[in-house]
Amino acid sequence: MLLTLQSLAELPAAAEAIIGHAGNNRIFLFYGDMGAGKTTLIKSLCSFLGTNDNVTSPTFAIVNEYQTTGDKIYHFDFYRLKNQTEALDMGYEEYFYAGAWCFIEWPEKIPDLLPQHYTRVSIAALGDGSRQINIENF
Ligand SMILES: Nc1ncnc2c1ncn2[C@@H]1O[C@H](COP(=O)(O)OP(=O)(O)OP(=O)(O)O)[C@@H](O)[C@H]1O
Ligand SMILES: [Mg+2]
Repeated sequence: MLLTLQSLAELPAAAEAIIGHAGNNRIFLFYGDMGAGKTTLIKSLCSFLGTNDNVTSPTFAIVNEYQTTGDKIYHFDFYRLKNQTEALDMGYEEYFYAGAWCFIEWPEKIPDLLPQHYTRVSIAALGDGSRQINIENF
């Protein structure tokens, strides 16, 4: 599924469409250059899922945890990871396979640890400030 967003105002509708398109998948990998809009989209997805928690980039913590009315959301940012062993050491498996929502920025840093099933969200910022978002299920 390909979405084109002209502005931030279109994010809530995009979040709803992305969650719908993902079907049973709960693990989402976010690809896109620095500043493409990964964290911004994750904020919108979290608010669609009903969390009142403050969604911020977990760059220093690696993972943030948010509570919705039903389930937990784990929000990862692996940008600062030096190697995949650091992901093993922080117990990534306990998060990935807990049945919770997982939103992962910079999955390129853990190429050997990716789950079998996930939804891939690729974001590109176009020259005019709009965003193109491609969503594929695996
Ligand atoms: N859909 C959008 N439309 C317009 N502006 C956007 C959109 N998404 C994000 N932005 C703007 O782009 C900037 C960077 O966004 P964001 O921090 O979400 O990027 P990121 O991909 O998470 O970057 P990083 O790789 O550094 O984590 C922010 O100023 C944000 O407001
Ligand atoms: Mg980010």
